[in-house]
Amino acid sequence: MPSKFSFTIIIISLVLILSPKPVFSNNYLSCSVRSSCGNISDIGYPFWGLDRPESCGYPGFKLSCSESELEITISSATYRVLAINKESQTLHVSRTDYSENLCPTHLINSTFESETSPFRQNGDSQDIRLYYGCQPLTAPQNLTSILGISNQFDCTINNTKIVGYYVTREFAGTVTGNFLRSCSNSVIIPVPNSQVPSLEEGRDPDDLEEAAKIGFQLWWSADDTRCNNCVNKGGQCGRNLVSGGFECYCSDGDVCSPGTIFVVCCTCSNISCSGI
Ligand SMILES: *[C@@H]1O[C@H](CO)[C@@H](O)[C@H](O)[C@H]1NC(C)=O
Ligand SMILES: *[C@@H]1O[C@H](CO)[C@@H](O)[C@H](O)[C@H]1NC(C)=O
Ligand SMILES: *[C@@H]1O[C@H](CO)[C@@H](O)[C@H](O)[C@H]1NC(C)=O
Ligand SMILES: *[C@@H]1O[C@H](CO)[C@@H](O)[C@H](O)[C@H]1NC(C)=O
Ligand SMILES: *[C@@H]1O[C@H](CO)[C@@H](O)[C@H](O)[C@H]1NC(C)=O
Repeated sequence: MPSKFSFTIIIISLVLILSPKPVFSNNYLSCSVRSSCGNISDIGYPFWGLDRPESCGYPGFKLSCSESELEITISSATYRVLAINKESQTLHVSRTDYSENLCPTHLINSTFESETSPFRQNGDSQDIRLYYGCQPLTAPQNLTSILGISNQFDCTINNTKIVGYYVTREFAGTVTGNFLRSCSNSVIIPVPNSQVPSLEEGRDPDDLEEAAKIGFQLWWSADDTRCNNCVNKGGQCGRNLVSGGFECYCSDGDVCSPGTIFVVCCTCSNISCSGI
């Protein structure tokens, strides 16, 4: 029975298939939105989340806003975003879980070296390693004459009292290294290079807390040259969620998709896709 219903379905399908432009969304408009959180504003590509859809950003750049604090999660570790610099493509971040003390419930490394990670430490920070579940200091293991290891700090994690230390240097193959090997866990967090001398001199766990709060810089790469070209031509940057490729959205609803197997050059009234 050819009903009115199936006729309607056919018409809707034809409209969807033949329509040259997105029917339900306008990426140009939604990607024109600039987000803000706390006192950080004008947040655009490659960031998404907040009020910017995923198609306006790059993988790994999802932001959230928690009590006016901007946050990003990178390799399971959550960071407070203290500043974003579009020109130098840098983020200033600090670990949220080390902002109160050195004893978070979940021990998570800061890692950026993965092949696919768009983030890199930019050389102004040094990795500090915190050891947890270590032996307390006893006289024969007095470490205070050794440069690069802190005084012990005490944590209560999961109702268990444990002892920890932080180290600023490599101790593999030494007596100190063997001592640290008996600790049950370790975590790597970066601190600014400028803080390292006072951490070594003071050996003070409170100083590491302060250094962690100051945070460090991350450099990012996310098709930024393409995006600059796109913006210079009046477009908005984003990403095709199916192909994963960069896209430049035009004000008339068309799209430039360079660099993919299917080079779609749009008929944008004002944008030539060449050079994006
Ligand atoms: C943002 O606010 C924090 C404290 O709320 C302040 O330390 C920081 O300097 C502010 N940043 C800017 C760019 O105003
Ligand atoms: C504390 O308990 C949680 C939940 O069981 C666990 O995921 C976490 O690893 C524990 N933390 C430490 C330091 O053992
Ligand atoms: C952090 O990384 C170090 C070095 O790769 C590793 O030994 C340690 O187990 C890691 N810690 C956690 C909590 O994953
Ligand atoms: C460790 O050695 C230093 C100097 O050698 C000394 O002042 C300190 O009391 C010693 N600490 C412990 C816990 O034995
Ligand atoms: C076309 O581009 C020019 C300069 O790039 C800009 O001034 C103009 O507003 C754009 N026109 C439209 C319709 O976007």
